Amino acid sequence: MNVKARIIGTGSYLPEKVLTNKDLEGMVETSDEWIVSRTGIKERRLAQSGEHTSYMGVMAARAALANAQITPEQVDFILVATLTPDYIFPSTACLIQKELGAKFAAALDIQAACTGYLYALSVAKAWIESGVYKNILVVASEKLSSITDYQDRSTCILFGDGAASCVVSSKGKGLVIENVILGADGEQANLLMIPAGGSRNPSSNETLLNRQHYIKMSGNELFKHAVRRMEAACKESLELAGCKELDISWLVPHQANMRIIDAISKRLEHLPPERIVKTLEKYGNTSASSVGIALDELLKKSSVQAGEQILLTAFGGGLTWGASLLRMSDES
Ligand code: ACO
Repeated sequence: MNVKARIIGTGSYLPEKVLTNKDLEGMVETSDEWIVSRTGIKERRLAQSGEHTSYMGVMAARAALANAQITPEQVDFILVATLTPDYIFPSTACLIQKELGAKFAAALDIQAACTGYLYALSVAKAWIESGVYKNILVVASEKLSSITDYQDRSTCILFGDGAASCVVSSKGKGLVIENVILGADGEQANLLMIPAGGSRNPSSNETLLNRQHYIKMSGNELFKHAVRRMEAACKESLELAGCKELDISWLVPHQANMRIIDAISKRLEHLPPERIVKTLEKYGNTSASSVGIALDELLKKSSVQAGEQILLTAFGGGLTWGASLLRMSDES
């Protein structure tokens, strides 16, 4: 019998400290009115001392493991999606493995910016369905405040910190991963990047003075790519599964900008607004973890029935993008 990979547990972690639009008004020349009307964001969470990427990832992972009723010793592989690792190396996945006590698990970081959760789901699905592993822990964790320039009003209003996790397994009740569509366009890499601190442009006094260790973003350009790419990925995912837009019960999009979410929703007809999951208002853009946090909130707040389908979609630096169709199943 063909094995179908499924998500059997989810979890998330958000730091307690809130950074409101009012707080940002005191830091850069901006206003609550501008931020809400242009982005839909009202507040975001800020990691405090000790809440680095691996810490938040561990907290989300513990919640997902408990939800899945899996012990750390049963985990075969840990995949961590992040663009804000604790260190350049060792990988954040190794640090999380140690903290969880998942001593039989191999560990790997994945870097696909805001699409990281979907890239990790795709890898997990392939390994589970080829029979290589039985239980894979996916973690997406971001401390974006560590790479955000709080003197740059065009970016600092957008980003927040947080983590999400899920357990992908070969058996158990949960969300069957019907497909994952992925894409990338390195031609547009310069639209969203951190210019310094890597091997091409190592850290120096000059790079620090020029604030090149912070996110640089061409927001306008990205906006257009984001809408186009996520719409296309969603349609490809539905077509591959032989589904229509009417067949989706929930859309869980990357939480970058309310206007981007609205534009995609308009292109996916028949989906009532209350079926589009939005966490943007309270958490802002948490990059790789955004889709995972929104999925966890959906599963905790609404009772998703057997047979209902959830469409995830994300877009980020690279450029990278993707979509994934999940179906709630009650069979093990
Ligand atoms: N407060 C007040 N004014 C501002 C602010 C601010 N915080 N930021 C920019 N402005 C000004 C600009 O200077 C500009 O002024 P000007 O007309 O005098 O030059 C004006 O507002 C309009 O600026 P735009 O950049 O055109 O504003 P836009 O409506 O495009 O919104 C935004 C900017 C919110 C960044 C939007 O472009 C966006 O969300 N882009 C997509 C981001 C995205 O999807 N990123 C990819 C995923 S993230 C990841 O991978 C980590």
